[in-house]
Amino acid sequence: MFSIEVTNLKKSYGSLKAVDGISFKVKQGEVFGLLGPNGAGKTTTIEIMEGLRERDSGDIKIFGLDPWKDGYEVHKKIGVIPQEFTFFEKTTPREAIKYYASLFNVKVDANTILKEVLLDEMENHVFESLSGGQKQKTGLALSLVNSPGLLFLDEPTTGLDPNARRAIWEVIRKLKAKGKTIILTTHYLDEAQQLSDRVAIMDHGHIVAMGTTEEIIQQHGSGEYLEIHGDQQLADYINTNTELQGKYDKAKGIITIPLKKKIDMLAALAAAEQSGMKWGEIQTRQDSLDDVFIKLINEPFGEQEEEKPIEQKVNKKGHVKHG
Ligand SMILES: Nc1ncnc2c1ncn2[C@@H]1O[C@H](COP(=O)(O)OP(=O)(O)O)[C@@H](O)[C@H]1O
Ligand SMILES: [Mg+2]
Repeated sequence: MFSIEVTNLKKSYGSLKAVDGISFKVKQGEVFGLLGPNGAGKTTTIEIMEGLRERDSGDIKIFGLDPWKDGYEVHKKIGVIPQEFTFFEKTTPREAIKYYASLFNVKVDANTILKEVLLDEMENHVFESLSGGQKQKTGLALSLVNSPGLLFLDEPTTGLDPNARRAIWEVIRKLKAKGKTIILTTHYLDEAQQLSDRVAIMDHGHIVAMGTTEEIIQQHGSGEYLEIHGDQQLADYINTNTELQGKYDKAKGIITIPLKKKIDMLAALAAAEQSGMKWGEIQTRQDSLDDVFIKLINEPFGEQEEEKPIEQKVNKKGHVKHG
């Protein structure tokens, strides 16, 4: 049973094609990650699914309903945290939950929700005094007020420090364990990888890859590499005496040789031995999701820094528009 079915969705702002014919389905209970740099079209897509923006064309079913035409019915069944969620400064999380419950005209047990989002200790602190992570947890709490089966989380951890991000991940995992279907947008690769059952990588309004992260690496990665610690002369020797094409990275002191077949490794090692030159550690590796992501969004491979959002790496090169 699919909670979401999107077919050939399009949305332009003037001449800008923000979403340019995307299709995907999300199963009940699945965590589906929309991953992409700033300006890829993630928020536009998610807000159309939420019934907050009107599409130009394409078909969308949320629990079988059209979110634009049947907005009232859809809103009762979904929970939403908008990008850059904020709330009345002088309101506490507990009051905020009560306020939302009155809007939805439902009775809620605020204690249960506060516990569920790991916010019970801060329930009586006003919003403006909360940390970034606690503010996002307040957003998560509010998205749960109407007991939705489907949650839309637009960049729930952007701008948070690593510990706060992990705390939000913990809440999202708990919600998944309770059977909620979750659509999550993020520009953090590790977040998509950690939380999502399946990922769609978006760039310039297109889905450029979709599947489990393993499937995406298999489909779009360049297979296996042999890495040999050595020098330029050794790389030249191997390239001259075998069919292989190794590349020497001076900074790392590593020769990287793409392997078409596993057996190519033998030829490389035999040549290295035969050369009489010095060589050190050897290892094989495959493209990581990071390698594949950088390839798919047409950006040169930048330095890898942990916990750094992708769009920051990409923007250093100045090629990707801000959203
Ligand atoms: N209301 C709008 N009016 C005009 N352009 C918009 C509007 N909303 C988004 N855009 C543009 O559409 C593109 C996609 O934006 P968005 O959906 O916010 O992407 P993301 O969430 O992936 O950063 C961006 O180039 C952005 O500047
Ligand atoms: Mg966005």
